[in-house]
Amino acid sequence: TTDHLVLFMPSGKRGRFPKGTTVLDAARQLGVYVESVCGGRATCGRCQIEVQEGHFAKHKISSSKESISPVGPREARYAEKRDLPAGRRLSCSATVEGDLVVDVPQDTVINAQVVRKDADARVIERFPAVHLCYVEVEEPDMHRPLGDLDRLRQQLRKDWGFGRIEADAHLLPLVQPILREGRWSVTAAVHQDEDDDAARLIALWPGLKNEAYGLACDIGSTTIAMHLVSLLSGRVVASAGASNPQIRFGEDLMSRVSYVMMNPDGREAMTRAVRQEISKLVQKVADNGGIERDDILDSVFVANPIMHHLFLGIDPTELGGAPFALAVSGAVRMNADDLRLKLNPGARTYLLPCIAGHVGADAAAVTLSEGPHRQDRMMLIVDVGTNAEIVLGNRERVVAASSPTGPAFEGAEISSGQRAAPGAIERVRIDRQTLEPRYRVIGSDLWSDDPGFPASVGETGVTGVCGSGIIEVVAEMYLTGIISEDGVIDGALAARSPRIVANGRTFSYVLSEAEPRLTITQNDVRAIQLAKAALYAGIRLLMEKQEVETVDVIRFAGAFGSFIDPQYAMVLGLIPDCELENVSAVGNAAGTGARMALLNRNFRREIEETVRRIEKIETALEPKFQEHFVHAMALPNKIDPFPKLAA
Ligand code: FES
Repeated sequence: TTDHLVLFMPSGKRGRFPKGTTVLDAARQLGVYVESVCGGRATCGRCQIEVQEGHFAKHKISSSKESISPVGPREARYAEKRDLPAGRRLSCSATVEGDLVVDVPQDTVINAQVVRKDADARVIERFPAVHLCYVEVEEPDMHRPLGDLDRLRQQLRKDWGFGRIEADAHLLPLVQPILREGRWSVTAAVHQDEDDDAARLIALWPGLKNEAYGLACDIGSTTIAMHLVSLLSGRVVASAGASNPQIRFGEDLMSRVSYVMMNPDGREAMTRAVRQEISKLVQKVADNGGIERDDILDSVFVANPIMHHLFLGIDPTELGGAPFALAVSGAVRMNADDLRLKLNPGARTYLLPCIAGHVGADAAAVTLSEGPHRQDRMMLIVDVGTNAEIVLGNRERVVAASSPTGPAFEGAEISSGQRAAPGAIERVRIDRQTLEPRYRVIGSDLWSDDPGFPASVGETGVTGVCGSGIIEVVAEMYLTGIISEDGVIDGALAARSPRIVANGRTFSYVLSEAEPRLTITQNDVRAIQLAKAALYAGIRLLMEKQEVETVDVIRFAGAFGSFIDPQYAMVLGLIPDCELENVSAVGNAAGTGARMALLNRNFRREIEETVRRIEKIETALEPKFQEHFVHAMALPNKIDPFPKLAA
C-alpha cells in the first residue's frame, strides 16, 4: 500500500493516509484540532505545523523533511506576503509523502501569577465553541431569489460542514453591507456548543479576519482575575486583576448575603458593582493586548455560588442558610450582552456548573483542571478560603463538601494576622534550644537574622503575619514544645525564654519585639486549631464516604495553597498523612479550568457530566463531623496517625 503513517504531537494520535493527503485533512480525520479560518486557501496562516525529524523509537516511526511535500506556490505566496516562521508549514497545503511526525505548535500560556510552572504553561487541547470561517458567497441572481443571508448560510454549510445555522438577530441589518464591502468574501464567527447540529452565526466581517479572543474570568469574593486568550492559538494575550468592589458591602460572603437581605436594592447594587469592575477589567486586558472589545467573542466565568448568583443578578438569600438552594446549579449559557459586558454584540458567555450550595463553579473549574475523575489515584483537592472547598475522588467516584474553616487561615481573627501582602511574615523558624524565632517577609529574600534586614523589607517594614506564616509559627511552636498537643502555650517556659510572656491567665509567644510588636496569643492558636479541625473533619468525612484510610495525592488550590508549606500543613494536621512529594500547590487552578472551558467545548461537557456525578456531602448534617472535629482539635490529631510525617 502507498499509505503512510502520520503521528501528531503532542496528542499522540496517529493514522495511515494515502500519499498526497493534506496534513490538515489527516488531522481532521484523526480528530486532531488544527485551526483553519480560510478553509484551506493558504491565506489565513492559522493551520501551521512543524515536521519533526528523526527516528521515534517509542512510536516506531521515522520522519524526515522528505516525508512532506516541498513548499508549493500557494504556500510560498503566503510565506512571502506574511511571516511564516522558519520550520513552519501550512498544513492545508503540505501533503503527506512518507511516514511523518507532525508537531501542532501550541502557543503556551504565560500566567501573571506564576506558581507552578508546568501547570501554568499547560497545553490545552483546543476545540473552541466559537470558530472563524472564511467563505466566498455567490453573488445575488435575479433568477434565484435566495436572500444574501441564506446564500451565506448555504456556503457555510457547504464549505464548513455545518448543519442548521441560525443567525443572531443583530446581524440581520448588517449582512448586506458587509457582504458588499467584502465583495462577497466574508469571515463568519460561528458558535457551536452543546448541540453539534445547531450552529449560530454570531458575527460577520468583510474579507479575511483571522483573530478572535475570549475571556476566562475567576470572580473571587476578594479578587477578580481575568485572562484574555486568543481563541485561535490558545495563547494568553493579557491578564489583569482587581479587588472585588463588593467588599464595600461586606468583607465576607455571608455579610454580603446579609446586605442583600437588609437593603431593598442591595442585590442590584452588588450586581452592578461586580459587572462594572469586570467591564473595566475587559477594557484593561483589551488595551494591554492591543485589541478591540469587539474582537472578544466568547467568555467563561467561574465563581463561588454567591458570587455566581450576584453576577447573574440572582438574589443569593437562599444560599445564606440550609438547605442552601442554588437558583441554578447547571452550566449557564447566555449572550454576553445580557450581562452588559460590552464585548462583540454576538459574544457568548458560559458559566461552569456549581457543585452544591457552597461548593461553586470555582471548585468545578479546579476539578476540571486537576482531573481527579480522569485518574485512578485517590486525589484530594483543597481550596482554602473562608469556606474550604474539598473534593476527593478518582475515576470511579468523586465526592465533595465544604468545611466552615472561617477566615483564620486568611489572617483574620488572628491578633497579628493580615492578608498576604508585602510586609507580612510568611516563613517562620524557631530555634529548638533558645526558642528564638527567625522569619521571612513577603517582598524580601532575607531572613530576619540576615544582615540588611529589616531594611530589605522596604517602606512597609514588617506589618503582620499572613496565613502561611501563621501555619508555620504555630507548627514551629508545636515542634519546639512551646505548645502542647492540645494547643496550650506552656507558661513554664517563661522562665527559660523572654519570648514567652504572660497575657492575662494565658501566655503568648513574642514573634517580633520591634514596632508593631507581633505576638501569637493563646486565642490565636485556638483560632488556628478550630479552622484546621474544621478542614480536617470535612476531609475525614469524605475519606469515610470513599472508604479510604489514606489519600494518594493532595492538591492545594488557590492563593493560600500556593504559599503554604505542605510539611507544616501536615505537622498541624490540616491535611491527612500523604507522601510529601505527592502534595503540591496548583496555584490558580480555577483560572486554568476556566481557560480549558474557554478553549475546548468538550471540557464543558466533561465538567457538566462530572459535576452531575459528584456526590455532595453536607458536613453540617453528618453526625460524624463533630466527632472528627473534636479529634482534629489536637495536634496533629488525637487518634489519626501520621506515619509518613514521622518518617
Ligand atoms: Fe488557512 Fe491553511 S487553513 S492557511
